[in-house]
Amino acid sequence: MIISGKELAKEIKEHIARKVASYKVEYGREPHLSVILVGDDPSSHQYVRSKGRYAGEVGFTHEEIILPESITETELIAKVEELNNNPGVDGILVQLPLPKHIRKHRVIEAIDPGKDVDGFQSKNVDALWHKLPGTRACTPKGILKLLDKANVEIAGKHAVVIGRSNIVGFPVAKLLLDRNATVTIAHRHTRDLAEITRQADILVVAIGQPRLITGDMVKDGVAVIDVGITRDVESGKYFGDVDFETVSPKASVITPVPGGVGPMTIACLMENTLDAYVKHMES
Ligand code: GUN
Repeated sequence: MIISGKELAKEIKEHIARKVASYKVEYGREPHLSVILVGDDPSSHQYVRSKGRYAGEVGFTHEEIILPESITETELIAKVEELNNNPGVDGILVQLPLPKHIRKHRVIEAIDPGKDVDGFQSKNVDALWHKLPGTRACTPKGILKLLDKANVEIAGKHAVVIGRSNIVGFPVAKLLLDRNATVTIAHRHTRDLAEITRQADILVVAIGQPRLITGDMVKDGVAVIDVGITRDVESGKYFGDVDFETVSPKASVITPVPGGVGPMTIACLMENTLDAYVKHMES
């Protein structure tokens, strides 16, 4: 069974759009999302455009703030602070990666935790760690929604997460652990990866290595979440970290690439923005 992130994201979008329409009457304005993009990386531009399009579709107002690659860290932080202080802004997202001369950590830390719709600021990471209310990172949140939608049992199961980034691997492992899965985190230095992946009831792959996981590396009935997306320059095709052709016959459920995790990340970003707006309006 293929779990369509596209379909689930559409359902979430419709739900958010309905909520926005009623909140707008109650609070007198729509939620507003500000997205900052530094430099001209084509994939980042594409992601930011998708986020803007989706925001428009659910009825948010939004802006893309495109800044030159040459901007200094101080100038970028000043821009973030300006948005923090703007009462008309509910959500702030700084698209990653940032140019090398800018310390990502410094910029993320400057975002007001209440407006940090990515869930990357340390107050929100702390909240995840301590199981306290806070904004959860979008891709991990979307992955849990996909598993729930597909009725995949999590408690007591062995989840193997490949990748340990702050954006996906690390937080998704924590969310699975909090749902009582037994979690193994593997990464580039893991020896005999196949021996570990063959134990997985749930396999989440987020390492950015096209078709790393092949059919011989998984057991029958595994639930597979493929977070990777790499564009093949020659064919223009997109490939996930999982070799769909050989893995899908063995999987009970699997996400496609594209159309799996990607749309869910954006849907959860909108959900986080709506939540930030409601808290903002009620404070
Ligand atoms: N770059 C790749 N994924 C993400 C994301 O989820 N948020 C931001 N801000 N940048 C990203």
